Amino acid sequence: MQHFEPLIENAWYVAAWSSELRDKPLARQILNQNVVLFRDSFGRVGVLEDRCCHRAAPLAQGEVVAGGLQCGYHGMTFDVDGQCVANPGEPNISSKMKVQSFPIIERQNFVWVWMGEPSLAEENDIVDFPFHKQGEEWPFQFERYHIGCNYMLIIDNLMDLSHLAYVHRRTIGDSASNHAKVEMNVEPTENGVKFLRWILDTPPPPTFVKAMGFKTNVDRWSDFEYLAPSSVLQWAGGLEVGRNAQKNRHQKGAYSMRMFHAATPETEHSCHYFWSVANGYRQDDPHAATELYNEIAPTFDEDVKMLEAQQRILERDPSQALILRQQDEALSFARKAIRNLANKTVLNTLN
Ligand code: FES
Ligand SMILES: [Fe+2]
Repeated sequence: MQHFEPLIENAWYVAAWSSELRDKPLARQILNQNVVLFRDSFGRVGVLEDRCCHRAAPLAQGEVVAGGLQCGYHGMTFDVDGQCVANPGEPNISSKMKVQSFPIIERQNFVWVWMGEPSLAEENDIVDFPFHKQGEEWPFQFERYHIGCNYMLIIDNLMDLSHLAYVHRRTIGDSASNHAKVEMNVEPTENGVKFLRWILDTPPPPTFVKAMGFKTNVDRWSDFEYLAPSSVLQWAGGLEVGRNAQKNRHQKGAYSMRMFHAATPETEHSCHYFWSVANGYRQDDPHAATELYNEIAPTFDEDVKMLEAQQRILERDPSQALILRQQDEALSFARKAIRNLANKTVLNTLN
């Protein structure tokens, strides 16, 4: 198994949270390409190469104006498709006055971008996360981290939860002795993998107790799905032991949260990690979502430290092989899925 997966261009990636795009252009590197994101006065989002076609000025240093994005050097303005719409001081605008644009779809609070061959971009392939539109049932908060690691190290991390007992023992972790009790069901899917992990009759971790005040042991679940190349959907929670959580997880009094994770490659060695967390309990308490965010964010800081350290060591000697344990079954399927997608997109481009 190679450590760093290739970057797959023909796929949708989260480029930004919708709310990141207000009145200023945003520079971002995605799959080794420097782009600028902006929202025009009609509310449309554009993702353009961050390079003016006139004299290569960085468009991200320009300004959003009525017609689009105005270059900060000589004032040419480009619309969301990259076409020049204003050429100050000159009578003509030609079709050559154009900056490369990338297909985008804004949906469910995400700006998705397609960095590859535009004719292969299928809107239906975008990962659906309807919970962002169900505010009352799933109030959520969200974040973006810049992480100095290959994006697949994040996916590996999410696919192997045995790290909870070590990396997160002070927050969402459980005791290492509980590992013997883990029930794991792993299933490969057409473009990824799903797993459902149960720990029955276990002391609730600190985060669960803070949220729900549990006084007894809980049955705890982690329901994950990886969709190649870069999305992971998570539903995690716990219910007091004896209430048959395995038959029904939708019970009142359960600790329940949904998360979306997207690891968008910046380069082979770094990525943008977008995540949101929604609480499925105490939904009418405005503090619950903030409390949950404040609990979860430090757990990612714990992961980031480990991921960046791993990256540094792997880069020192990428030729050295790594081993797999039994608990890496979901991780292995995820790595298979990303390779299948890489092969498929090569074939698509050749056809
Ligand atoms: S470099 Fe952009 S208008 Fe001249
Ligand atoms: Fe983690």
